[in-house]
Amino acid sequence: MHPAFQNASSAVPITFATKSTWDTVSATLPAAARRFAAANAFTAKPGQYLALPAEDGSLAHVVFGIEDTSSEWRDLFRPGQLPGLLPAGTYSFTNQPHDTRLAALAFALGSYRFNRYRKNDVPGARLVPPDGLDMVELTRMADAAALARDLINTPANDMGPDELAQAAQALAEKFGAAYSCIIGDDLLKQNFPLIHAVGMASTRAPRLIDITWGDASHPKVTLVGKGVCFDTGGLDLKPSSGMLIMKKDMGGAANVLALAQMIMDAKLKVRLRVLIPAVENSVAGNAFRPLDIFPSRKGVNVEIGNTDAEGRLVLADALALADEEKPDLLIDLGTLTGAARVALGPDLPPFYTNDETLAADVARHARTENDPLWRMPLWMPYDSWLDSKTANLNNAPGGAFAGSITCALFLKRFVESATSWLHVDIYGWTPSAKPARPEGGECQAARAIYKLLSERYG
Ligand code: BES
Ligand code: MN
Ligand code: ZN
Repeated sequence: MHPAFQNASSAVPITFATKSTWDTVSATLPAAARRFAAANAFTAKPGQYLALPAEDGSLAHVVFGIEDTSSEWRDLFRPGQLPGLLPAGTYSFTNQPHDTRLAALAFALGSYRFNRYRKNDVPGARLVPPDGLDMVELTRMADAAALARDLINTPANDMGPDELAQAAQALAEKFGAAYSCIIGDDLLKQNFPLIHAVGMASTRAPRLIDITWGDASHPKVTLVGKGVCFDTGGLDLKPSSGMLIMKKDMGGAANVLALAQMIMDAKLKVRLRVLIPAVENSVAGNAFRPLDIFPSRKGVNVEIGNTDAEGRLVLADALALADEEKPDLLIDLGTLTGAARVALGPDLPPFYTNDETLAADVARHARTENDPLWRMPLWMPYDSWLDSKTANLNNAPGGAFAGSITCALFLKRFVESATSWLHVDIYGWTPSAKPARPEGGECQAARAIYKLLSERYG
């Protein structure tokens, strides 16, 4: 079980209340506790927390405010604040929050702290598993989120292409998956010119990580994750404000590994393949340049409009390889555009697909897992914006419009044979702490997609 959960015979009760149920809830409390709550002006506002003392001053009871049932929006992860509020100890829910499963998941997700370089701040509150929940499944999800977050939070000096590959290899070995990796100039020999072009200016060699797992007769599901371990922007260098959090530019890779971990741990009936182009977009004398033209694995020549549009370049070669074996479902995740944030903000990644059934399923699981995703269109009238005057296409067409859509359309050029394709332009980062979402690296899209896959292939 995840360390945030613990079976115990005695636990401090946590009671959920809302502004409109608080009167009824408080009537069940001892008179002294009721007066203590009133003296503290506790009214069960969402997120409001109060620890009620026993007569001897010990902790007797916790009350925690959540949104009213009738409110326009309820944060189903609200209980994810509790680990950050509660003193170390064992707790149990005495009544039902709006969604007990998501509340327990939020408790585990909210217990996460990145402690690789500083060991002291992991919350010590433990939750007794609420009745009737599949704790194996919740643990699987929380562990996967921690994997994605740890990989993203680890700074680029300790998470380069090699270290990312090592993390992928460790995951493969844990589940008996086949692992291989094409490194450095071998990328040219084996026809991955774009991955090589983006990664060659770094002293840390670019590579393509390739994992396969599962029964070859099962449906082929292939995951591709953008693994840019640091994105300086290349010669089109980012300003310092834009470069600051670019250690997270391997967030697609991190989330693809988190998703793969859930799939393999749950033994879904798929033939899984995971492809991660792992590179560092650096500046050096041999860096690729604006208006350079490179061939791609697929054969089309790509003109570099902007060296900072590197994610779509490395994904293009990986998607082309994935597409060669005609997967039943091809999914790519990447932190690809600032434009996606302009459109939808950090917490609501856009997804793209032309498969209507898949689109409906993604949206449904995103809702039920509280792993928000929002569909945007593969708007073909903008496809011609990718035209180049000197090559087959340009990676960063001029003009500031519809940047996330044009990126998706660029990727679409490299997917032809896959039965179904899903692209998610994630952020992979929580800019300021929210319930169940500590500031920093974030697991995005992986839980929703995992649930979709387990519904189809479980
Ligand atoms: N990694 C960035 C995208 C990004 C930036 C994600 C900030 C989240 C926050 C990507 O490689 C990039 O730089 N994209 C450019 C594309 C442009 C040059 C066409 C962008 O979005 O500005
Ligand atoms: Mn970039
Ligand atoms: Zn990038």
